[in-house]
Amino acid sequence: MAKNALPPGPIGLPFIGYMPFLKGEPSRVFVQLAKKYGPVFGLQMGSQPVVVLNDWPSIKEALSHNSALHRPKHNFFNTAFPAGFAAISGDDWKVQKRFTFHQLKNLGFGKTSMEDHIIDEINHMCQVLDAKEGQELEFRTIFPISVSNNVNSLNFGRRFDYTDSKKKAIDEFLKMDPSINITGFIAFYPILARFLLKYLTFLLPSSLQNTTNIVKGVTDIIRTEYETHVKTFDENNNRDYLDAFIAELRVNKHDNMLAGNAFDLFIGGSATVLMTLEWALLVLATNPQIQQHLHKEIDDVIGGERSPTFADKNQMPFLQAFIASKDMVISGFKIPKDTQILVNFWAIDNDPNLWDNPSEFRPQRFLSENLKTFKKPEHLIPFSYASLMQRCCALGKRSCPGEGLGVVEVFLYLSSLLQKYDIKANHKTDQNLEYEFHLLITPKHNTVFNITKRHKTTFRRADESGKRG
Ligand code: HEM
Repeated sequence: MAKNALPPGPIGLPFIGYMPFLKGEPSRVFVQLAKKYGPVFGLQMGSQPVVVLNDWPSIKEALSHNSALHRPKHNFFNTAFPAGFAAISGDDWKVQKRFTFHQLKNLGFGKTSMEDHIIDEINHMCQVLDAKEGQELEFRTIFPISVSNNVNSLNFGRRFDYTDSKKKAIDEFLKMDPSINITGFIAFYPILARFLLKYLTFLLPSSLQNTTNIVKGVTDIIRTEYETHVKTFDENNNRDYLDAFIAELRVNKHDNMLAGNAFDLFIGGSATVLMTLEWALLVLATNPQIQQHLHKEIDDVIGGERSPTFADKNQMPFLQAFIASKDMVISGFKIPKDTQILVNFWAIDNDPNLWDNPSEFRPQRFLSENLKTFKKPEHLIPFSYASLMQRCCALGKRSCPGEGLGVVEVFLYLSSLLQKYDIKANHKTDQNLEYEFHLLITPKHNTVFNITKRHKTTFRRADESGKRG
């Protein structure tokens, strides 16, 4: 019979619990603790009781739990950001999520029109990159503008120009400056954080105040766009998510979660794709042989005359295997309600029982024996479970609604970049792939690299050149 208690684990200090002992490397410390207490152990983090899962059987069991849709009243998402559907549970969540899914589909999510839009956005970015050939390039000053524009076009029906000063808060948010690392404090002291953010902001460290201002800046952009949309609304012309929401509010007067939902799409759809691309470029710059292999596959399948399309993916197993290889990504205890569950992805990504020589970077491990087909192991789960902030009974069933768009974006950005450029490390490129724990696992230093053009031609979209892959 299951015991209704936290599983055994280490004892921490009063009020702060075990937090000071994690030393910036929680995943590795957790693996050490799992050797002593077993793969599922409990501990106190700040004001929160927490259960840490460190092996595939316990994670899988948790992810397939039926009561996996609940978020507690005070959670990371509604404390740090305006509340949207990522922060809520139950019937309200179902209504908002169904509406959002439906509208995104109407707007071309998963259709060729969205793909063409992404390719155009990539081509805008490549113009900027072309002009900087031979110069030092900083990932976080160039890529966020391009990637966030894909979500901006879903939300607002428009892209922001690279020089548009109105989107300053979006740029700042996505630069992922270490000073905006608020994850731990908000996740493990949610009620205190909520109170301070609401009433005593001036008492917070300047980094947190800065973050609050940036989040407010992004919310203001959403509100300004909303006001413009209300003025120009035409019920016969659904331009974007904001229009769809305005139409819905006129019929069903349910809670207006527009700002929160738009914010969730913005952060869910930008930060994740960016982080995947930043790791990919860092790995490409530091692994020239892998890059050569990818260049060859792209030259064979797409050539140099047209832009890639998502359909090309089926003939490009090595690029699929490369993308999979850098995805970073409850055993007998009845976990008390509102206990936070931390899934230690690092533990399963580095588990020698799951992977042959896990620390070796070898995309081929995701290929069939004849190296011609991509194969995805069950325990590779980039979209089905959020990294750090889940609570008991809020597991992988809440999987990512943007998966369809995310995979298209990552594939098109990487295939386009590899088609056009040699990506090279320079003396500032972090060869050690150091990382930090933020909302996502982030390269510690802004990734810096150089490019050299591989083709001198101007690229056309597949449909413009009469060819779709
Ligand atoms: C490489 C790309 C992406 C990755 C790796 C990723 C990963 C994830 C993960 C792991 C979750 C948590 C699921 C859970 O709670 O169990 C999630 C949730 C979410 N994602 Fe994504 N995502 C990506 C792209 C996108 C895109 C493009 C969008 C929107 C256009 C998006 C919007 C969201 C939203 C709104 C949620 C919250 C869902 C909810 O709580 O109901 N994501 N994502």
